[in-house]
Amino acid sequence: MIEVIELQVSLLEEVAAADSLDALEAVRVSAFGKKGRITEQMKSLSQLDGDLRKESGQALNLVKDAVLEAITARQADLNAAELEARLTHEIIDVTLPPRPRPDGRLHPVSQVTEECIAIFGEMGFTVAEGPDIEDDFHNFTALNIPPEHPARQMHDTFYLKGQDGGALSVLRTHTSPVQIRTMETSKPPIRVIAPGRTYRSDSDATHTPMFHQIEALVIDETTHMGHLKGCIIDFCRAFFDISDLPVRFRPSYFPFTEPSMEVDIGCSREGGELRIGNFGEGADNWLEIMGSGMVHPKVLEHGGIDSARYQGFAFGMGIDRIAMLKYGIPDLRTFFDADIRWIKHYGFVPLAVPSMVRGL
Ligand code: PHE
Repeated sequence: MIEVIELQVSLLEEVAAADSLDALEAVRVSAFGKKGRITEQMKSLSQLDGDLRKESGQALNLVKDAVLEAITARQADLNAAELEARLTHEIIDVTLPPRPRPDGRLHPVSQVTEECIAIFGEMGFTVAEGPDIEDDFHNFTALNIPPEHPARQMHDTFYLKGQDGGALSVLRTHTSPVQIRTMETSKPPIRVIAPGRTYRSDSDATHTPMFHQIEALVIDETTHMGHLKGCIIDFCRAFFDISDLPVRFRPSYFPFTEPSMEVDIGCSREGGELRIGNFGEGADNWLEIMGSGMVHPKVLEHGGIDSARYQGFAFGMGIDRIAMLKYGIPDLRTFFDADIRWIKHYGFVPLAVPSMVRGL
């Protein structure tokens, strides 16, 4: 009997001393496990006889109940303490913003590129790419600008030493070589836009040696000038978000299109300030924003496309330039100064991805 009482005392002490759920479990196993102290006592009852067995059995059952009850109570205490600790440690201040406000800004060139992709994407165009370092063939010859062609002088080209003493490479002077690369790798119908960096040796308030263009190319069996006009008018009005923006097509010349047209949009220059919009069709109310035309048959052939069967249009414009016009940025050179104050002022909040549905 004494033994049994001592067992109860020591088990209850151990239960009280258990300072974690793991420690408590260890005590439980040491009492009720296969070789536990109470389990062993229960087993040894069989060796006693008669009344002694009965008495001892009853006493042991009392000990067992007391210890189990103590364990359950201790378990509840420990659980409560753990919850309490988590509540004080994992405290959440619901008045804080969900995450730190992002300090970075998207460059207007990135923003406007995304806007163009959103608009042309809606029209069914996909994005194509080509290398910044081009060969003479893709930048010039394939675009119907042969070596002695005067149009080569129009582009103030940066030349690079050719590899292994080979022909000179160029930094592409426009995105039009992507037209050729797309024709070489895909079959009509083709409907792509190609945004990217372009390079010319030129620098003033509206020219930088590196700038950006976006090219569009559509080729199939039936596309005609009407489609070209519709596509460009729709783009201009969506991009500048002016539904009655005047758009004018003026005859021009590019070696790689025939016929060729420059595209003007409506503007006002009143008070020395340039504003895009519908200000009437006065002679001074036009601003040139892109070159366009029907793809020259020779260009199709250079791209490996049968010009007797296929036709289409192309156009190209300066991304930086339309960014300046849309967002009122006066000097192109500031685009590439990497000035944190400039990007804070003219930059765009990231994650607000432009879309035709949610806004550009
Ligand atoms: N590549 C021409 C330029 O840089 C623009 C253009 C593209 C014109 C496609 C016609 C067709 O000025």
